[in-house]
Amino acid sequence: SKKIALITSGGDAPGMNAAIRAVTLQAEKYQYQVLGFIGGYNGLIDNHFITLDCHKVDDIIRKGGTILKSARCPEMLDNSGPKRVVETLESNNIDSLIVIGGDGSFKGCLAISELWQGNIIGIPGTIDNDINGTDQTIGFWTAVETALDSIDKIRDTANAFERIFIVEVMGRNCGFLAVESAIGSGAEHIVCKEIIEDEVQFIDNLLVNINKAIRNHRTDSYIIVMAENSLSFSAHELSKKIERYTGVDSKAAILGYIQRGGSPVAPDRVLATQLGVAAVEAIKANKSNIMVGMLNNTATETAFSATSYSNTYNQKIIRRLNQLNFNLD
Ligand code: F6P
Repeated sequence: SKKIALITSGGDAPGMNAAIRAVTLQAEKYQYQVLGFIGGYNGLIDNHFITLDCHKVDDIIRKGGTILKSARCPEMLDNSGPKRVVETLESNNIDSLIVIGGDGSFKGCLAISELWQGNIIGIPGTIDNDINGTDQTIGFWTAVETALDSIDKIRDTANAFERIFIVEVMGRNCGFLAVESAIGSGAEHIVCKEIIEDEVQFIDNLLVNINKAIRNHRTDSYIIVMAENSLSFSAHELSKKIERYTGVDSKAAILGYIQRGGSPVAPDRVLATQLGVAAVEAIKANKSNIMVGMLNNTATETAFSATSYSNTYNQKIIRRLNQLNFNLD
């Protein structure tokens, strides 16, 4: 029999609970024990856990957040964190570790793997979709859905006043959330790092194009979806620049943390369940240092060292945008 430690780590994402449930139920099937450590790596450092079973995960598939809580853990970046994690793993006779989180959390896995021989499996959970080795991360579609709901509402008021709006979405350093939210909401423009070569030139073009679209009355309102961290200045400043240039009222709305919450949408629940099962199966097959993911509807395994966000994403994002050549400017 096996003893699995499970954590949710980094930015929480809708569907993490569904993954916790799937891991627990699949483990029970093989009579493996699952200890859920509380608060990401901090729970492993402080030996703070609960035992998971079918009762603990009953009806959590539809709940946002994570019953195991989450955190960012700076201690994992130096040697002391991983060392203390390994002490906890050893003192509890744990032989496997499953980490539901993002790229940063998987770096922690790599550090632990230098000191510990157990099976370490990652499950991609973040609203950013910035992980290589899976088409989507758990939480991404829910965050897009939440953004769409907000942008639709902003569109109503934008149309009523014939205003320009900048809607800033999350994504840390990745434009995926912005791209799918822009496509899904029918936004007129997108701002994200991946499509900016020269910021000054990009903004100049943006101003000219918006102005042209407004003069041509192509749409009643003009919505620009912007990924956080994509410019050297804020969404509010961009809005002011646009207002000055066009003479049209312009507002900025920052969606922020609402994108992290809420009941997971169907694709996130299904993905979380598939990946939770895949993680336990990987342990059963004695795999280690891999992240389980879904590529083209097929379960895949990717070495932690290859899960990082990379410029393959730029290409993916640019390809997505090329499909949308509506010429709204
Ligand atoms: O990684 C998820 C995310 O929500 C990013 O989109 C955002 O940049 C970041 O987390 C915010 O981090 P924190 O929760 O630590 O404020």
